[in-house]
Amino acid sequence: MLRKMPGAEVQGVVSTTPDTSVVFSPMVVKTPAIVVIVVWLWRLVAGLVKAVWRHPVACVLTGGTTTLVSLLGWQTAVIVWGAGVSVVSSWAGLWPAAGMRWVVWPALSWWRWVWVYRRKWRSVVAVAGLGRVVRGRGYAPDLVRVVSDRWVDRVTVKMLDGQSDEEYADASGNLAHGFGAAGCRISSPKPGWVVLTFPRRDALAKVVAARPYPDAPVVTTVDVGMGENGRPYRLQVHGTHVLIAGATGSGKGSWLWSVVRGLLPARQVGLVRLWALDPKRMELSFGRPLFDRYAATPEDCAEMLEGAVKVMQERADRYAGVRRSHVPTERDPFILVIVDEVAFLTAYQQDKALRARIMAALATLTTQGRAVGVGVMAALQDPRKDVLSIRNLFPDRVALRLDEPEQVDMVLGDGARDRGALADHIARDPADPSVGAGVSYVRLENAPDPIRVRAAYVSDDDIRHMVLQYSTVSEAV
Ligand SMILES: Nc1ncnc2c1ncn2[C@@H]1O[C@H](COP(=O)(O)OP(=O)(O)O)[C@@H](O)[C@H]1O
Ligand SMILES: [Mg+2]
Repeated sequence: MLRKMPGAEVQGVVSTTPDTSVVFSPMVVKTPAIVVIVVWLWRLVAGLVKAVWRHPVACVLTGGTTTLVSLLGWQTAVIVWGAGVSVVSSWAGLWPAAGMRWVVWPALSWWRWVWVYRRKWRSVVAVAGLGRVVRGRGYAPDLVRVVSDRWVDRVTVKMLDGQSDEEYADASGNLAHGFGAAGCRISSPKPGWVVLTFPRRDALAKVVAARPYPDAPVVTTVDVGMGENGRPYRLQVHGTHVLIAGATGSGKGSWLWSVVRGLLPARQVGLVRLWALDPKRMELSFGRPLFDRYAATPEDCAEMLEGAVKVMQERADRYAGVRRSHVPTERDPFILVIVDEVAFLTAYQQDKALRARIMAALATLTTQGRAVGVGVMAALQDPRKDVLSIRNLFPDRVALRLDEPEQVDMVLGDGARDRGALADHIARDPADPSVGAGVSYVRLENAPDPIRVRAAYVSDDDIRHMVLQYSTVSEAV
């Protein structure tokens, strides 16, 4: 607060501006010592309670050790610690999975919390522009929890009131460099909170082998590869449409074939029909017997898409007023229309009439097919704006390696790259096509946060085996 000081020169305060007789100086308010002490004590107690609440095990261990040392001497404390460590490590050795879960990962999380995040927190968030100074007092977002596993650290943060997760997305590069990680992905599980995911080791560095065939026929979701947590990743195929975009050699084929592979048992019992459109004749032709319908020329492709629209409309007529969603049966199987290189049928198609027919059929299928059990999965090589007029028709999207940073948002939607979908940074090695191939960012309709996944590599031998095992099937639709 400022207060006017009349006659400043008289009191010995010299104005810096020669002709002014009036200067301002801060008023000093003397706070009683007792108030300072109470505030201080309050902060101390609150800090202690918070520490115990957040780190109960560490606090119990520290408190217990201190008590032991003071009551029984440090020799006893060393013996007790030694006994404790050997009991816990032999238990963890006998049950390694439980040992990792209850001992190793919590200990690592705690260590990462202390050494990496807590230690640097204030300075990194300040430099990244996420702290604030209000009326001379500094505020930093609250570092609440760190959970580490084999691959990543997940850091839960309570944002400052009034902040948005977009600010964190904008600062993801600063955070990654600040905490010495290769990247940082942002998600917001509930209002006011963000989770920062820092990868430590890449679970997706190695090629993921083709997934085993499912034991039972499944239609809804298919195991297509591995997630960043090292666990199988299941992609929903029924009740949605999927667009898969990536540069040449990025591994679009591995997505298409992994989905086909996972649906084969269901196809064999008649719950799924696979329709293939292969305008480049380079991809799907290899497994021709696995498809109930196959088209390669643009005319055939247009006809097939229109055929799918007919099936869809016939079902819609039958379902109207009877049911609102599709359950795959032998009579009404789930039809998955698989399109490789969709731009050959749309943007690059010279024949305008044909292109219009194809676009109309695709748009009809993607806008109305979900509820009646007709799905489209399309692969796209060139995600330029004109090619992507169809992008918004696909609720779920996958970006493999892309050439330009701008293409990431073109494929996955606005803000995806800021949220960590660095599809333009996916590794590549001209000498080894498998490096980075199949690595993708998936953005689902109902979740804004991109997930990093590596599609399983279905080799030519795998496809041959699939053909041998599954090419006979009940009568096609
Ligand atoms: N998921 C994957 N894991 C490892 N290598 C892969 C994977 N997918 C593809 N590859 C390698 O990359 C090459 C190109 O893959 P392909 O699917 O034909 O790319 P695209 O269709 O995107 O041009 C393949 O021949 C294979 O060697
Ligand atoms: Mg291809």
